[in-house]
Parts: sequence; C-alpha cells; structure tokens
Amino acid sequence: MQRPIGFMDSGVGGLTVVKEAMKQLPHEEIIYIGDTARCPYGPRPKEEIIQYTLEMADFLVQKDIKMLVIACNTATSVALEIVREKLTIPVIGVILPGARAAVKATKNKNIAVIGTLGTIKSDAYAHTLHVKDSRLSVTSLACPDFVDVVEHDQAQTPRAEKVVSETLAVLPKNIDTLILGCTHYPILRTLIQNAVGPAVTLIDSGAETVSEVSALLDDYGIGELSRDKTRHHQFFTTGSEKLFAEIAENWLEVSQLSVAHVDLETEENHAL
Ligand code: DGL
Repeated sequence: MQRPIGFMDSGVGGLTVVKEAMKQLPHEEIIYIGDTARCPYGPRPKEEIIQYTLEMADFLVQKDIKMLVIACNTATSVALEIVREKLTIPVIGVILPGARAAVKATKNKNIAVIGTLGTIKSDAYAHTLHVKDSRLSVTSLACPDFVDVVEHDQAQTPRAEKVVSETLAVLPKNIDTLILGCTHYPILRTLIQNAVGPAVTLIDSGAETVSEVSALLDDYGIGELSRDKTRHHQFFTTGSEKLFAEIAENWLEVSQLSVAHVDLETEENHAL
C-alpha cells in the first residue's frame, strides 16, 4: 500500500526507531515529526503531553499515513490509548514491545528500566512487566539529563560520559537486563553499556517496536509491495531544522535529508 508510516517523538529520539525501520522495512516510506521546540516532554504534566501528542498525531494523519508509531515512551505511557481511540489506523507504542523483549532476555529476573521522569512516574513499564511475570524484580530510574545531552548533539562529549556514569551508578548490581525506556537513549548506548558493564543486556524498546510494526503490516495486509519505487522520507521539526538535520544525518548515516519546519501551535487544528 503506497502510503507512508508516521513516526512521532518529542525531538530526535524517535530517529532511533526510524533507523531500525529503515533497516527492517526498506520499502516503506516514512514521515517523521519531532516536537523539538517543546522537548523535553519528560517533566511536563500529563495533560500537556496528551495535548502535544494529539497535535502531532493530527499533523501526521493529514499526511495520509497508514499507521502511526508513537516513537516516544513518555507519550506512549500517557497517551497511547487516547490516540488509539481517536484514529482509525493502527497505532503502536514503544512500551509493550520493550517490556516483552526484556521478559524474554532476563535470566535472573532482575530488570531495570531507565526513562524520563514522566515515563518512570507513570509506572507503565513496571506495570506491564509485572502483568507478564509477577516474579520479576523491577528497578525504575529516571534519567532527566540524558535527553538534554542528546538534543544538544553532545552524545560524544565528556559531559555525556559524566552524566551517564553518575546517573546509572545507583542501579542495583544484580540486574542482568536494562530497558532503554526512552527513544533518545540508544544514541548513548555505548556509554550506558560501559556504565552498567558488559554482562547486562540492553533492550532498545524502539528496535523491538519495529519488529511489531513489521508483523502488523503483514497482519493488516498494508505493507508496501512495490520494490522499485524511490522512497521520499520526510522529516519535520518544530525547532531548528539545521540542528535536527545535523543530528539526523549523523545518526541515520544519510546525507541531504528533507527536513522542514512546522509550527504545531499555529497549524490548523483538525480536532481528531
Ligand atoms: N524520547 C522520549 C521518550 O522516549 C522523551 C524525551 C523527552 O523527555 O521529551 O520518552
């Protein structure tokens, strides 16, 4: 089916999901929006996150997407069901696939999850994990500075190393699985792995989500069948196009991305 898949995040974090989508679903066309101007969502009140998420969903629906991926744990934790109720296309969040992969990966049942303040406060991961296996021991830790490091393109700097190692130092030593419960965090993956040690399995919830997207495209029979069409992925940001393009081209390892600015606050509201 020749319609794009929509991806949304509060900023550049959802690009970690897009990178995986480009790998696992090379024939699909992607439309992405990052609400960089209002990032971070993590410390915001729930009602605000729901409103911003609906605005992004509305924007993408106007682009005639066939499926929506909420590539943001914070938005998924508070708004997934609300968005689902309003749309007629399939809507996928990042929390369930990440939790599922962690349950599969752990051997000693000691799992930790790191995420934004909003995601950790919602308890969405701990709840989902315990529904799957009530014997799990789950430690949840908010890492409020990680997103700021990534959005400022500082992932390769000493500041990043310091912030990651100091924040993660409090994690229990007996965990064998750590869920990266924020789509920004895979950009800090090497630093996170160094901080927790090589014995801990890192779960990238975004990458797990793409496997689910792939299965759903098959289930609904809406996968892109044409193999020779040129794909025109489109990226939108509510913030600086230049900074977004720099981070995106670097992370996705592509040049000349089509990045445009959009102002969601002045966009006509189509009230989903
Ligand atoms: N990337 C987002 C997530 O997965 C959140 C970043 C933010 O705080 O805006 O939770």
